[in-house]
Amino acid sequence: MRLKDKVSIITGAAKGIGKETALIFGEEGSNVIVTDIDLDGASETASLMHDKGYNATPMQLDLSKLDNIKEFVKRVLSEFSRIDILINNAGLFSNVPILEMTENEWDKVMNVNLKGTFFLSKEILPIMIQKKYGKIVNISSLAAKRGGVTSGINYASSKAGVISVTKCLAKFSAPFGINVNAVVPSFCDTPMFRGLPPEKQDSAIKSIPLGRIARPDELGKAILFLASDDASYITGEILDVNGGVLMD
Ligand SMILES: NC(=O)c1ccc[n+]([C@@H]2O[C@H](COP(=O)([O-])OP(=O)(O)OC[C@H]3O[C@@H](n4cnc5c(N)ncnc54)[C@H](O)[C@@H]3O)[C@@H](O)[C@H]2O)c1
Repeated sequence: MRLKDKVSIITGAAKGIGKETALIFGEEGSNVIVTDIDLDGASETASLMHDKGYNATPMQLDLSKLDNIKEFVKRVLSEFSRIDILINNAGLFSNVPILEMTENEWDKVMNVNLKGTFFLSKEILPIMIQKKYGKIVNISSLAAKRGGVTSGINYASSKAGVISVTKCLAKFSAPFGINVNAVVPSFCDTPMFRGLPPEKQDSAIKSIPLGRIARPDELGKAILFLASDDASYITGEILDVNGGVLMD
């Protein structure tokens, strides 16, 4: 078991990549805090984990609200007294065209994907620094590198920001024994991808050298690697898990 007794937080774990990652972490012996804005969904993930004998605690968190982030971290600390691993997975998609972008649509996506990722990390870092141990894995997107083909400028820019946040936090945290990395999916079989119009799904699939989109567990396994001590000498890495669609 690669995460035995580690306390992990996985955001956006009600469905998709976050849910699958929670199941993988549970199997690896982690005590998983399954969090999402959607508490019912997070509770469903946790009960699926309980059925398999894994340790899981569902908690609600709206990442776009800083007060909520602070209260959430206090609650986790009061129940678990440490946090070893943070997976910043939650994300909001948008594909509003550039000339139709509104301030509200821009802020909505930025507040979850970029601001939420940074401020939750900032709240948890002092706890990891004190223990001289921590792993943070952020989830970016191919959109950040390719200028958003299926996605909007707000989504692509937020995910480019996630890459920058990853590198800044990796440099800052390295002296304290904390690794910060990012995973960059292209297209993965989740409700987010299945929400795209069918013609966009088809053209995305056709563009992938491996000939198919990723299963959520294929992202979960890459996240597990970076969150485990197998990746102890890797920090500031931006790991493509993209079926070969972009080789940079
Ligand atoms: N699926 C893909 O093809 C793909 C591609 C590239 C990047 N990604 C990224 O991977 C991550 C997971 O994506 P997914 O496909 O599983 O998405 P999904 O839409 O299936 O799940 C995202 C989860 O985030 C939660 N969430 C949304 N707003 C939130 C908020 N304010 N606070 C807390 N939780 C919130 C949702 O409730 C949902 O459960 C996201 O960051 C996404 O941008 C996905």
